[in-house]
Amino acid sequence: MPETTSNDSLREEFNRWAEAGRGEGMEQEHLPITLPVLEKMRLRSTDNVLDVGCGAGWLSRRLAKMVPEGRVVGMDISDEMIRHARRSSVDFHNLLFVAGEVAQIPWQPNFFSHVISVESSYYWPDPAAGLKDISRVLSERGSAWILINYYRDNPHCHQWGSLLAVPTQLLSAEQWCGVFRDAGFKNVAHQRMVDRSPSPEVYTGRWFRDAEQLRAFKAEGALLLHGAKE
Ligand SMILES: C[S@@+](CC[C@H](N)C(=O)[O-])C[C@H]1O[C@@H](n2cnc3c(N)ncnc32)[C@H](O)[C@@H]1O
Repeated sequence: MPETTSNDSLREEFNRWAEAGRGEGMEQEHLPITLPVLEKMRLRSTDNVLDVGCGAGWLSRRLAKMVPEGRVVGMDISDEMIRHARRSSVDFHNLLFVAGEVAQIPWQPNFFSHVISVESSYYWPDPAAGLKDISRVLSERGSAWILINYYRDNPHCHQWGSLLAVPTQLLSAEQWCGVFRDAGFKNVAHQRMVDRSPSPEVYTGRWFRDAEQLRAFKAEGALLLHGAKE
């Protein structure tokens, strides 16, 4: 029997998420923390953007509208997520989706002006290798923007590690910045993206103890990391 790698496990797990419709469902959860990041990226109409761990492609489609004379590539390790993304994007002329792993991005060097990744990087088996390959595909002075809700400095998300079916990286903001710098990024910085969307009075899901913990989690905010290639 061939050995199952961590990439195989990720692909299988996120293929299950895609088949259950969870790729589409994530837009509502991630939009409030992603919109302010899109403003910070200061995209021009001719920019080329890579969306790493694009899931069902809602963010890639939004980006494609923002760069009508550029190109957007959505990439995901789950081929089923990519199938869902393609199905919902047939009307876009400047958007394509590819299956791939962040440490081996199937694209030429120095192409993208911006790389964004939302709620994906804590699943990457080797974040250092991922950031290095992101740097490879970025053009000179291009920038990388990574947004995550699961990180060490927010105590209200730590329980996710034991709830998720695949291994995760629980790094602090400072540790993530170190990974960026080791990959050669300059002007590395981090900040919090507070989620101000309304919270329910009662929480019945499995990710938080109760509504109070969900509110505390959102008040801490997501972690945005960014850096530039020089
Ligand atoms: C929580 S989902 C977020 C999806 C999307 N960014 C969104 O906000 O809806 C995480 C995504 O990252 C992808 N992913 C996880 N590890 C990856 C890796 N090593 N390389 C590429 N994609 C990966 C998964 O397949 C999944 O679609």
